Amino acid sequence: MLVWEDDLRAPQTPANRFTPEPTPRDVQAVTPSPLQVAPVAPAVVASASTASIAPNANASVVARSDRRVNVADKRIINGQTDVNQLVPFKYKWAWEKYLATCANHWMPQEVNMSRDIATWKDPNGLTEDERRIIKRNLGFFVTADSLAANNITLGTYRHITAPECRQFLLRQAFEEAIHTHAYQYIVESLGLDESEIFNAYHEVSSIRDKDEFLIPFIDAIMDPHFKTGTLENDQTLLKSLIVFACLMEGLFFYVGFTQILALGRQNKMTGAAEQYQYILRDESMHCNFGIDLINQIKLENPHLWTSEFKAEIKGLFQKAVELEYRYAEDTMPRGVLGLNASMFKGYLRYIANRRATQIGLDALFPNEENPFPWMSEMIDLKKERNFFETRVIEYQSGGALSWD
Ligand SMILES: [Fe+2]
Ligand SMILES: [Fe+2]
Repeated sequence: MLVWEDDLRAPQTPANRFTPEPTPRDVQAVTPSPLQVAPVAPAVVASASTASIAPNANASVVARSDRRVNVADKRIINGQTDVNQLVPFKYKWAWEKYLATCANHWMPQEVNMSRDIATWKDPNGLTEDERRIIKRNLGFFVTADSLAANNITLGTYRHITAPECRQFLLRQAFEEAIHTHAYQYIVESLGLDESEIFNAYHEVSSIRDKDEFLIPFIDAIMDPHFKTGTLENDQTLLKSLIVFACLMEGLFFYVGFTQILALGRQNKMTGAAEQYQYILRDESMHCNFGIDLINQIKLENPHLWTSEFKAEIKGLFQKAVELEYRYAEDTMPRGVLGLNASMFKGYLRYIANRRATQIGLDALFPNEENPFPWMSEMIDLKKERNFFETRVIEYQSGGALSWD
């Protein structure tokens, strides 16, 4: 039975809280060694793969059995075990999340957009402020999920040495492609100026500033010369994972999601709202997976979690809240849909607190309440309940499809 993880309804229940039991090897400080380089670079992966399966008529059975994966040896980063062998499982939580994301499968073109098209074309269908929100939203998201996909496939993936986690990342990368597809599909359906929307991340400062904040952390791990295995580089990777999971997927998406879902709750742009609802559910899972990954790396490498490192991360959280708040102000110069920018100040602080505590930091803004409790219901979406009354298709685990 799958449980949709509501990452913003504090506190977590025992069922979805990640509390790994440390093993004696886990809690040992790992001494980074220049020789302890994970099979990360494509060339290294290729040679490692070849080495483990190369036919060798003279190799004895004993020699080959030496290569069998010992589950206790698996590591999230800097592991030396064969990345081609998914089992034996060590990180069951990653496999379970992989299965849950597959059970959530959906495609953008399954959502009926005809009402949205009629509303958009009707001069009285939406106010100018509502149109601004939609265009700014798409302006951020049409490129954000491509950044996410590139970060996963060209950065994160090759530095992670646990095949269960790689399996999730492959699924996540595909979902990012579906999200980019969904945003493109909305742009195309509404007949928006593609050039304007796809260039917004260069041309609209509130969007550009968010992306410019993220890009150095993505670039650092995408550098083909970057390898984990030293204190500095392992901290660089961990920082990048935190920025990506907690601040990009876990914070920078939330003003936009709230705005479009608020439109849907007022029976406007319900097709777009349904697409965003599915995306929100996917992103919530990505964020939770990222947080589990971060916590497991911390557990296996406690020497990375220094007080200087924590102070740096707190500074990044504060900067991200500031940038997302500026985006809220830019997208909502006036009150609209019962929302206004200042309501988002509390919401962003509430989310930042949640993300900080999920990775073991203190709350940055104590005593913030969630001003949008209805967003938790959106994350909890079950496909059998169709909030926006557009078409819903339920994909069931095990490969069987049921059509409504
Ligand atoms: Fe996404
Ligand atoms: Fe994502």
